[in-house]
Amino acid sequence: MNWMWPWLMSALGWVVVVSSTSAELHVVGMRCEYQQEPLAVESTAPRLSWAVTSDSPGARGESLSAWQIRVASSSEGVTGADADLWDSGKVLSSESLNIPYGGLPLKSRQRCYWSVKIWDQEGRESPWSPPTCWTMGLLEAADWQGTWIAPRDRTPLHVDRDRLDLPPPRHFRHDFQIRRPVRRAIAYVSALGNYRLYLNGQEASDGYFLPGWSDYRKRAYYQAFDVTDALENGANCVGAIVAEGWYAGYVGYGLLVGYGPHKSGKNFYGKVPALLAQIEIEYNDGTRDTVVTNESWLVSEDGPIREADIIMGEHFDARRDDKLWCDSPAAFAELSRVRDIWSWDQVVPAKNNGSIKAPFSDTLGDREVELGFQQPPVLQSYPSEPVRAVKEIRAKRVTQPKPGVYVFDLGENIAGIVRLEVQGQDGQVIQLRYGEMLHPDGSLMTENLRKARATDSYVCAGTVEIESWEPQFTYHGFQYVEVTGLSHPPDLSAVTGIVLTSNLRYESTFSCSDETLTQFWQNARRTQMANFVDIPTDCPQRDERLGWMGDAQAFVRTASYQADVASFFTKWLDDVREAQRDDGAYPDYAPYPMAHGAPGATHGAAWSDAGIICPWTIWKVYGNTRLVQRQWHSMSRFMEWRQAVDPDLRGIKIGNTWGDWLNVNEDTHIEFIDLCYHAYDCQLMEQMALAISDAAAAQIYHDRCSRLQRSFREQYLLPDGSLRIGTQSAHVLALSCGLCPDPSHRRTLAQHLAQRIEASGTRMATGFLGTKSLLPALTANGQHDLACQLFQSRAFPSWGYEVVNGATSVWERWDSFTKEYGFQGVNGNNNASMNSFSHYAFGAVMEWAFRDLAGIDSEQDGFRHVLIQPNIPSPDLKNIDPNVPVLDWVEARYVHPRGMIASRWERSDKSTSLDVVLPPNTTGTVVLAVPPSVEIYEGGKSLQDAHQVQVLPSSERGLALRIGSGTYHFEWHQPPRNK
Ligand code: BGC
Repeated sequence: MNWMWPWLMSALGWVVVVSSTSAELHVVGMRCEYQQEPLAVESTAPRLSWAVTSDSPGARGESLSAWQIRVASSSEGVTGADADLWDSGKVLSSESLNIPYGGLPLKSRQRCYWSVKIWDQEGRESPWSPPTCWTMGLLEAADWQGTWIAPRDRTPLHVDRDRLDLPPPRHFRHDFQIRRPVRRAIAYVSALGNYRLYLNGQEASDGYFLPGWSDYRKRAYYQAFDVTDALENGANCVGAIVAEGWYAGYVGYGLLVGYGPHKSGKNFYGKVPALLAQIEIEYNDGTRDTVVTNESWLVSEDGPIREADIIMGEHFDARRDDKLWCDSPAAFAELSRVRDIWSWDQVVPAKNNGSIKAPFSDTLGDREVELGFQQPPVLQSYPSEPVRAVKEIRAKRVTQPKPGVYVFDLGENIAGIVRLEVQGQDGQVIQLRYGEMLHPDGSLMTENLRKARATDSYVCAGTVEIESWEPQFTYHGFQYVEVTGLSHPPDLSAVTGIVLTSNLRYESTFSCSDETLTQFWQNARRTQMANFVDIPTDCPQRDERLGWMGDAQAFVRTASYQADVASFFTKWLDDVREAQRDDGAYPDYAPYPMAHGAPGATHGAAWSDAGIICPWTIWKVYGNTRLVQRQWHSMSRFMEWRQAVDPDLRGIKIGNTWGDWLNVNEDTHIEFIDLCYHAYDCQLMEQMALAISDAAAAQIYHDRCSRLQRSFREQYLLPDGSLRIGTQSAHVLALSCGLCPDPSHRRTLAQHLAQRIEASGTRMATGFLGTKSLLPALTANGQHDLACQLFQSRAFPSWGYEVVNGATSVWERWDSFTKEYGFQGVNGNNNASMNSFSHYAFGAVMEWAFRDLAGIDSEQDGFRHVLIQPNIPSPDLKNIDPNVPVLDWVEARYVHPRGMIASRWERSDKSTSLDVVLPPNTTGTVVLAVPPSVEIYEGGKSLQDAHQVQVLPSSERGLALRIGSGTYHFEWHQPPRNK
């Protein structure tokens, strides 16, 4: 028994390793449209998914042979065999993900209780799963009875770019009565702006920055909350705080460059935030009431939050704080009596504020826009997990670089907020500023925040107890918090970091014998969390935080290894579709409130292509063909645009030509990059067309790809098989974008690439595009040892270089900070304002680490059949730096909706081993790059005697074995041949 067994046992919670097939299978993790018990499902054929566990974890060869789903309108119905909505009957299928509901038509608000029964491979039947439930959302526009409400607009539009405009969020309140016992109450809420919902003084919403970012002129999200327990018999009060958010607050670099109405950098979608709410109450006696936003609601701008902006920060005056603002009429009257600082007005229907026209500027030119209320034509249930506080971090140390200036260090670079816990005098102002790094004198480095003020402040109420405060409508990217205005030196407990991120499941892990790289994985994961905040942003600290598409396409596969991102990308791809230009081009970021780059330009090669690459990746990883169907029309329009602007298929230079962004002195020309991505898109479109059974479209893209490959050969290939362009990234893109169908040809190109890298001292020169695919291209084409050397390098530029220079997150630039040159960069020319310490693009190497190094991939789409193909470096591989530990073991645990898939290889002087875990109801192909003469054992037995192991005909990939689910320990006594 090797030392992996304790890990397996603890990971799987088992005591005895079982290899029989007598285990019983159970349904777990039931999801509807990726969510657990969702309250507002929009699809009328929602997809149902579950995972399968065994009561003997690790048992082999367990699979489903059939399932039966029952759906009923009551929980009794589903357990009592009265499935009035759908009884699928026994369906002979082993699929357990994305099974479309196939019963009676579903209506708005309908509750659907469901339960599943499964049969294993031997026909043994499981018990019915405990029922769970999904609820349909508001499917028709007519379901919304409320009015969009807003405060009466009395102020002029902000036009002064030199002064920040940070109006206080509005508090809305409304009284209503409950006179009978309540069975159930659901609150449906949307806002133009960001909202928090309250009932009887307590927060009833769950999440930050609700309802989420969309193009509010076209579509707004809404959430549903079960508020049954928050209601009281008698008088009730519903309240909401609505801040400007993305709708009317500062967005991106708008202020920096002077975009937006009057070039002010804000009010991109409108001027006055608005609220729409509807509480539907169902009484025990079957009657119903609905409480909706209407003209009887009150609004105040006198609450304790005096400023609230996502980018600029929040200002809170605790002297104004009073929960009574959302309490019963009697308590509220008391508030008005003792706290006359709050004055309340009647709201108005948002449309009554009338039209507000303003000149609007960006690179598309100057034009007039309407900033008055425009009702979003579509209200859509938020399809993903909201942004939540997922972790608290205690400060590690506090320093005092100047008298009265205290700097707290969280020890890691995160995105989020802090909890401030202090005592102060009535009116004492405490200021918080945020930074990712410190200057040598210990002061905060804020040059890279650009126009993001990133400053919060708190005015103490002066109570005798410790006052505790957390901002609600802002977030920052930071490791350090500077606190000023305190009367006494603070304890470490005065500041606690709170990580905010879209609440996705981050359960996968990666580790290896080189701790620096294990830490790099943690940095990549932390940086994903810091940037997956409602949309995939580029960075969380400066005035940017946009859904840059080049970054997203580079990182999407890594993101899917590190977390369950199916619903997150489903949401963002709606934004991408919505941001598509009229001519079919995708823009360079989404949502897209302003243009960027050259005048008139909206797109960029490798940025716009995220509109094809991201759906393809989510389909491949999660087997989600419905997403392909949903995007298909939009993707086809983009491909038509691509052909229309480049009819000769030679690759073109148009739009924003970022190309291989942030490469190290090796620009690759844009026409080449454009050609490569166009060909890559065609291949992905061909595969997606086949997935949705559109053979004609598949043929069209196949043919276009062949023509692009021909164009590539004619323009860029020399007779000896080398490339006319000398950059590393050109070689990488030619290999990774499928420009060379011939394997021997690819190996030649990879040799040239390797020679170039070695000639430059085994150093990379690649930017965002080249880096993503560099190691995969080397490994797939006979240069795996070099890939491992680069992965383990500590020399500039490398992943290890960041870590040894102190990184706890992934940096925008390879040399964002160095011990020798500080923030200047190794060439002394780093731009302080474009120097983020939380930028995930270079973290895309983790795709290679999980897939190629540890060897976990999907044989087709959706990980139903897993490919375990570890790539183990040669035993005689020398690291460039002799002090770097040998890569002699690697372990990855990948948590997919089907369960945990694990691979761990280890090499000692005498032998090499591979441990594999496949969850029930998956099968796998294990490919080992060993010579045919090598004897391989599994669990101490020869392969012929091993249970659930079938030796497949050998292929050029190596020895291939078919295995069933379960745990396996392979061992062989000769080092493997290098691929
Ligand atoms: C962002 C990048 C982005 C780029 C486009 C930058 O400001 O931070 O990550 O892709 O603009 O070149």
